[in-house]
Amino acid sequence: TIDISQLHKELGYFTFDPGFVATASCRSSITYLDGDKGILEYRGYPIEQLAESSTFTEVCYLLLHGELPNKDDLSKFDHTITTHTMLHEAMKRFYSGFRRDAHPMSTMVGVVGALSSFYHHGEDIHDPEHRKITAHRLIAKMPTIAAWSYRYANGQPMVYPKNSLDYSSNFLHMMFSMPTEEYTPDPLYVKALDLLLILHADHEQNASTSTVRLAGSSGANPFAALSAGIASLWGPAHGGANEAVIRMLQDIVDSDNDVAHYVARAKDKSDRFRLMGFGHRVYKNFDPRAVIIRKTCMDLLAKLGPDNEYQALFDTAHELEKIALADDYFVKRNLYPNVDFYSGIILLAMGIPLNMFTVIFAMARTVGWISQWNEMIADDDFRIGRPRQLYTGANTRDYVDIENR
Ligand code: ACO
Repeated sequence: TIDISQLHKELGYFTFDPGFVATASCRSSITYLDGDKGILEYRGYPIEQLAESSTFTEVCYLLLHGELPNKDDLSKFDHTITTHTMLHEAMKRFYSGFRRDAHPMSTMVGVVGALSSFYHHGEDIHDPEHRKITAHRLIAKMPTIAAWSYRYANGQPMVYPKNSLDYSSNFLHMMFSMPTEEYTPDPLYVKALDLLLILHADHEQNASTSTVRLAGSSGANPFAALSAGIASLWGPAHGGANEAVIRMLQDIVDSDNDVAHYVARAKDKSDRFRLMGFGHRVYKNFDPRAVIIRKTCMDLLAKLGPDNEYQALFDTAHELEKIALADDYFVKRNLYPNVDFYSGIILLAMGIPLNMFTVIFAMARTVGWISQWNEMIADDDFRIGRPRQLYTGANTRDYVDIENR
């Protein structure tokens, strides 16, 4: 590793690295990723073990504090989270300013940014206690914000959080409960959702996390910085891919399963089409999250029975994966299924609508974003992020009056 900032100071060196392919923007002790070997660890714990044995709130504690909680720590943490699940009543009116059928991600960008107006005065980001409360507020409120975005887009009444429920059950309750009938979340779906939240909780310096860090590096309000991260996540090259995968799979199923045609399109450079849910900047091997999610998806569909309506999507995805992995184009470029490839089928099977997929990703990633923000502010080397550029514009020239142009 070369410390360019030192070389810059001593010798005036610059690097040109569009897309930050080979530039570390920070030191971090939160998440370890080895893209060649397909390894992902949170605070040193392999993702496979956390997926098997942990819960989402336990993973939140781990990411924030660096260590697994004991029973007492976890029960206090869970309790603290439940004390912050409500939104200020005025926020309900804020929702009604959005277009009637707004995409829930657009609402989420706005609502999370707007919360900075509630948590602004007298809040000092350099006070660790304040940063802890901010993390608790965000983790606690995000399911409420997410579910209300959905309820608003559907013209349904907002459902308040129920603090006797665990994190994932509470989200499903706010999504699906109706004043007219009692809703009990299916334990199968609660477990699947909790697993998806664990797998999406952090992924080191991806586009949205780097956005949160860069926005926050100016000392900006953390709610505003997270809102910027949510905006970044929304793009189809990042978190928006889970929604795009299902649209692609549905198109393939509707085209009589002409999988080969879609693979050929993805290889054709004159066509902007890409296989959604395929490829990753860092993983040049299997994304370990995709392996876990594919298995969970298979188990869930098996429990729903052979005639379940999502089987066709899964079979098509599986076929696509097989064809692509045997194709030179994908092999040479190390393109494997990523976290988004199978996750959407699980969400669909749970009754989650397509436009909520990236919202759920944002809900999960909130703990990663705020842990990374916290780590950045606490770092002794903390300074504003300010990339440089290679200027390619005009040389110096004199202003010409409009009559003489
Ligand atoms: N389908 C077809 N070809 C692809 C795909 C794909 N999904 N992904 C990359 N390639 C090709 C590119 O065309 C390029 O080919 P070339 O060398 O002949 O020009 C080569 O593979 C390298 O691709 P880049 O775009 O340079 O890779 P980069 O690291 O910049 O992009 C990304 C990674 C954005 C994930 C890309 O693979 C992609 O667009 N995938 C589809 C969208 C997706 O699934 N995003 C989710 C990522 S995971 C997440 O953010 C949660």
